[in-house]
Amino acid sequence: MRMYDIIAKKRDGKELDDNEIKFFINEYVAGTIPDYQMSALMMAIYFNGMSGKETASMTQYMAMSGDQVDLTYFGALSADKHSTGGVGDKTTLIVAPIAAACGLKVAKMSGRGLGHTGGTADKLEGIPGYKTDLSADEFFNIVNTVGVAVVTQSGNLTPADKKLYALRDVTATVENIPLITSSVMSKKLASGAKNIVLDVKYGSGAFMKTKEEAETLAQNMVSIGKLCSRNTAALITDMNTPLGKNIGNILEVKEAVDVLKGKVCGDLREISIALAGAMVSLVFGISEQEGKIKATSALDSGKAYIKMRDWIAAQGGDISYIDDTDKFAESDYCMQINAFAGGYITEMNCEKIGTAACVLGAGRATKDDKIDMTAGIILHAKTGDYVSFGEPLCTLYSNNKDSLKSAADMFKSAITIGAAPVKQPLIYKTVR
Ligand code: URA
Repeated sequence: MRMYDIIAKKRDGKELDDNEIKFFINEYVAGTIPDYQMSALMMAIYFNGMSGKETASMTQYMAMSGDQVDLTYFGALSADKHSTGGVGDKTTLIVAPIAAACGLKVAKMSGRGLGHTGGTADKLEGIPGYKTDLSADEFFNIVNTVGVAVVTQSGNLTPADKKLYALRDVTATVENIPLITSSVMSKKLASGAKNIVLDVKYGSGAFMKTKEEAETLAQNMVSIGKLCSRNTAALITDMNTPLGKNIGNILEVKEAVDVLKGKVCGDLREISIALAGAMVSLVFGISEQEGKIKATSALDSGKAYIKMRDWIAAQGGDISYIDDTDKFAESDYCMQINAFAGGYITEMNCEKIGTAACVLGAGRATKDDKIDMTAGIILHAKTGDYVSFGEPLCTLYSNNKDSLKSAADMFKSAITIGAAPVKQPLIYKTVR
């Protein structure tokens, strides 16, 4: 078999067979197919797509390309969640302890931030002492005793996705439904959970810009999950406005803790309850509404907060920072940005706001960049809110004074203020 023929076949819009897909995944991981040929194939897929059969086959060979976590010990209780990525998306920090407080076993591998979106593993490393790198035994024991552990995607899990994602990131081939489907679902299958809830985002801060594209992506991922005997559901949610008010690693940990302490309501609490409720619904075979009631009770009773403390302590984190989030370090510099007009906020371009947070130091432009854990943005107003001229829109935080001005310009260019209020639904629908 020759890679050249596979590229030509896909270039001509034909369907690849199972053996061809197995060949290019396995040989790419083995290093015998060079990046330039794989780039050409990714671009051919980008333009000509893949059938459901091709996507399912690619997903399964990617999942089998490395180690696979065995969670069969936890039976039907193992559950995982995955977000397709967004700005201010700290839901894992809230959803995982809620789900564990409801009796689920959450064994989660999380990614790092790249580009304008953040990563859970980076956020957790903002907690002094927290170890994101555990041995397989440590990971298993914490899930078993506490009910939740969150680590980085390390070791040899889905090496095909690691290589392909890095290549797609620099060849403009990320925003493609079959490729995102195989990337996300290969990781979820290899991570071993029996129940999977996906948060598929649409809007200015997401890979999918429209609800319709997000729905197609959700349907593709859910059908592959089911094909591989996993209970899978996807919530299609809005990413036209950052989630919650804080953007940036430590700032996001603080906000997540405040939700668990019952101090913060709004979109972040709502979406966290919906995601945890969907996990509970899959695991116990109850309706989504009943799942949400259980999730709300775990949150409001304080059980989820206690679960968070146990989890952070089990992974070496200093929980005195969770009990008193004022202990976290703060940036040396800050700048408040005020409304340049009076009226309703009608648009907050999430990609620009996420990029402004990166400029402040909260994210990476390349995977080797070092993060400023304290940097980021606190929003004082969000889409739909009325602001008077001069009222604060946000505060920027950074340890690099020079970054404040360019981040401020970027933030201002992301905001549109108009005469009429807009209302965007937070959760569009669930695909099961
Ligand atoms: N998240 C992933 O894990 N993979 C993609 O391709 C896009 C988002």
